[in-house]
Amino acid sequence: TIENAAGKESKMLNDINGYTRTCGLIGNPVEHTLSPVIHNTLSMVLGENLAYVPFHVENGRLEDAVKGAFALNLLGLNVTVPYKSDVIPYLTDIDPLAENIGAVNTLVQTETGYKGYNTDMPGLYRAMCEDGVKVKGEKVLIRGAGGVARAVAMLLLDKGAREAILLNRTVQKAQEVADEVNRIAGRKFSKAMSVDAYDTLPAGKQYLAIQATSVGMYPHCDAAVIEDPAFYEKIHTGYDLIFNPPKTRFMELVEAQGGKAYNGAKMLLYQGIIAFELWTGCKVESWLADKVYERMQEAKKTEDGK
Ligand code: ATR
Repeated sequence: TIENAAGKESKMLNDINGYTRTCGLIGNPVEHTLSPVIHNTLSMVLGENLAYVPFHVENGRLEDAVKGAFALNLLGLNVTVPYKSDVIPYLTDIDPLAENIGAVNTLVQTETGYKGYNTDMPGLYRAMCEDGVKVKGEKVLIRGAGGVARAVAMLLLDKGAREAILLNRTVQKAQEVADEVNRIAGRKFSKAMSVDAYDTLPAGKQYLAIQATSVGMYPHCDAAVIEDPAFYEKIHTGYDLIFNPPKTRFMELVEAQGGKAYNGAKMLLYQGIIAFELWTGCKVESWLADKVYERMQEAKKTEDGK
């Protein structure tokens, strides 16, 4: 497969010509990204004359990077850690969902500069739809209260969940997020809870749970914020936004109590696919999404084996 992969890549490089459009990723670091696999595979299969490359942007150089990208006529950029919020002042327009989330991961070229979008959350939602996980009308537990948890709460509001309970070690932080989400909702949609207070939740498998902390991420694979099976008895479906390792401790704990569990790999896939659709106007169908997903897994194995 490595030979095949190399063969395909070199064919694409040979296809670069005077009309090739460039997209890329800005962040620090960017070296372990799987995004080039997503976008270059899509370009090849769909016959788009587009190349996608990573750009390592040093701290303090973000404004220069965005201005430089526009000057170089780059069609679009993805933005990753640590610039997803910091990039906002350098945009000429912003999509309302991205604005509410407070984080932008995709820039799309316009006449005057870049418009910012958030495709992480729509990516999560499309992954959930593909996995058959329902959001509308659901009671949802969100683990964590950082930027990602906040974005998840906004998505759940947008997609018509019934309520979102933020469970966090620091309950004050969860309260701040809940207050902000409720302000945007104009009603009491979200509430905060300390991680030890889950026993007050009703019994029975009533909840969808979304794990939005970095706890359990490689190399700390044995970690989970809550170990008690009594918590996992309340969950019918668990979504961990972590994708490395592919089965997290949280997912094992959900499955041990008979729940369904998913990781964040498809969210990564679909955030890329939605960005590609914004840049090119193409619609990526399921069969192609599956093909890109396979190539991501192959690329990840190659990276892990290094
Ligand atoms: P991000 O913006 O990526 O969401 P973050 O703002 O650092 O990252 O948020 C990380 C989340 O993981 C927080 O909710 C944090 O809990 P606190 O608010 O109490 O700090 C949670 N978290 C991180 N490490 C944790 C741990 N060991 N146990 C419990 N929660 C943890």
